[in-house]
Amino acid sequence: MAERQPAERARHWRDVYSAREEAAFTWFEARPQVSLDLIEHYLPPGEGATVIDVGGGTSRLVDALLERGYGPVAVLDIAPTALDATQRRLGPDADAVTWIAADITGWDPPGQWALWHDRAVFHFLTAERDRAAYVAAMAAALRPGGHAIVATFAEDGPETCSGLPVCRYAPASLFATVERISPGAFRLVEGRRHVHVTPKGNRQSFQVTVLERQRK
Ligand SMILES: C[S@@+](CC[C@H](N)C(=O)[O-])C[C@H]1O[C@@H](n2cnc3c(N)ncnc32)[C@H](O)[C@@H]1O
Repeated sequence: MAERQPAERARHWRDVYSAREEAAFTWFEARPQVSLDLIEHYLPPGEGATVIDVGGGTSRLVDALLERGYGPVAVLDIAPTALDATQRRLGPDADAVTWIAADITGWDPPGQWALWHDRAVFHFLTAERDRAAYVAAMAAALRPGGHAIVATFAEDGPETCSGLPVCRYAPASLFATVERISPGAFRLVEGRRHVHVTPKGNRQSFQVTVLERQRK
């Protein structure tokens, strides 16, 4: 299968978010409970509770993080149309968030966060060089001891999402991929399975891997 070039990828996602409302997407969650539970477990809100949601799209995770007192919070997405929609939903609260319109495979983190969250983005990276760029960005963006929560389709999950092919993982294979690219940069903390029910009632198997950035 031909690899998607960054410009084509950006166009795809811009068009996706221009065409429909958030609740029409298969990945929509009225309340991102699995993510919130994990984030609260690994990073209680308060001083230094900085979070970046990578490929956040129009997810309501940012709303819930602000309500709980996390910050600074950053949301990165390749689709400015998604960031615009999320900002409109948040209203004045949007000013408390750092909005980053970027392709994660070409992004050089300007700082560090305590927690990296990604739900359903890494699995779109089907080329090793894109995965390598992602892992390099994740390693640079996380402070030592910080956690990455990476949710992807599980090995028995769908083979495509939004019309694009995906790579499916178990926590062990996701960690092996990260370790192959950046040996010793992360420790596998935990992995769990989760079944997401889409707005139309279809079931999708996810895995969620938690990694800890190692002090070097
Ligand atoms: C399936 S959606 C998930 C959105 C959100 N994480 C959620 O759980 O609702 C995938 C998101 O990743 C974004 N995305 C896809 N490829 C990306 C890339 N290379 N860099 C940054 N964002 C990307 C898309 O624009 C989209 O918002």
